[in-house]
Amino acid sequence: MAVGAVDDARPDRWGERVIQFIEKPSRLSLMEYLYFAGDDRFGALGVSTAKDEYLPQRNGPLPRMENAQFLSEVIAKINGKEPITDLERRMVAAGGSFGGAKPKALIEIDGAQWVIKFFNNEPIDAPLIEHASMTLASQAGISVAETRLVPLLGENAIAIRRFDRDGTRRIHCLSAGTALRALVTAGDTPDLGYPNLAQLLRRAGNTAHGENKREMVELFRRMVFNILMDNTDDHEKNHALLLAPEPTPVRQGRPRRPTPPGARLRRVTFKLRARAAGVRRWCGRSGINLVERNVAVQIVRIIAS
Ligand SMILES: Nc1ncnc2c1ncn2[C@@H]1O[C@H](COP(=O)(O)OP(=O)(O)O)[C@@H](O)[C@H]1O
Ligand SMILES: [Mg+2]
Repeated sequence: MAVGAVDDARPDRWGERVIQFIEKPSRLSLMEYLYFAGDDRFGALGVSTAKDEYLPQRNGPLPRMENAQFLSEVIAKINGKEPITDLERRMVAAGGSFGGAKPKALIEIDGAQWVIKFFNNEPIDAPLIEHASMTLASQAGISVAETRLVPLLGENAIAIRRFDRDGTRRIHCLSAGTALRALVTAGDTPDLGYPNLAQLLRRAGNTAHGENKREMVELFRRMVFNILMDNTDDHEKNHALLLAPEPTPVRQGRPRRPTPPGARLRRVTFKLRARAAGVRRWCGRSGINLVERNVAVQIVRIIAS
């Protein structure tokens, strides 16, 4: 783990593999990984080889949606440690080392950067389920990054619009883990739970128009959603804090209610209702006072309806 925010800027397990395979640096220290990740890395930090001049690793243009099938085949080759051609190398050199543990890359859609996550031989269609979960989250009033299902030959991939870019502008971001670790003295164990993250939002968040309070409510809603969905990958690196360039206007409008469930969805809804009771009990026990209890109940109702 690298120090502070640098840890969020370095490539993760997947990116390290790609860099080892594509760039073949003679040394494999954090410095090489940071450098070769290039300016398309997560967040806004940049890495230069000179101190007086900004000299980052320059990667070529990102592949486009129409290259998705080809890109998935190259990624599969890298995953299987098979040799790749020069053309294939160029295809992944730009954006192939993006964060996380599983195979992914960056692509460009209509001038914007998107993360494309490929099927990783899971026993389930993980990209399809991720797309469905994100859609459901959006219908439950949670603000999520736009996703698209990318059907490929015999499998699916999912494309997620980058939330840390605004056109070509890089937005400063921290993972929740980094932000929460910064609260304790080095060496002490941080508390990485939701209540602490909510407190951090209240104290350090954007207070203009009560934005931080709105975000605490949003965080609570995310927590409830993750419990209801049985998200087993809900950890501190999977939450991000973005630096707002200027106060964002308060969003009016109530969360949209999901469309009425059809026959197949009714079973799922029934299960969620049963879980909602568990969430209510859990909130009571954990003493999580992010929002008024009645708001909590309302959120559970929105999601379980
Ligand atoms: N849409 C996105 N915009 C910006 N960064 C993203 C996006 N999706 C993922 N990331 C970054 O990539 C990392 C890995 O993504 P994630 O979806 O968690 O994949 P994995 O399942 O491999 O961990 C995240 O922790 C985050 O830093
Ligand atoms: Mg992750």
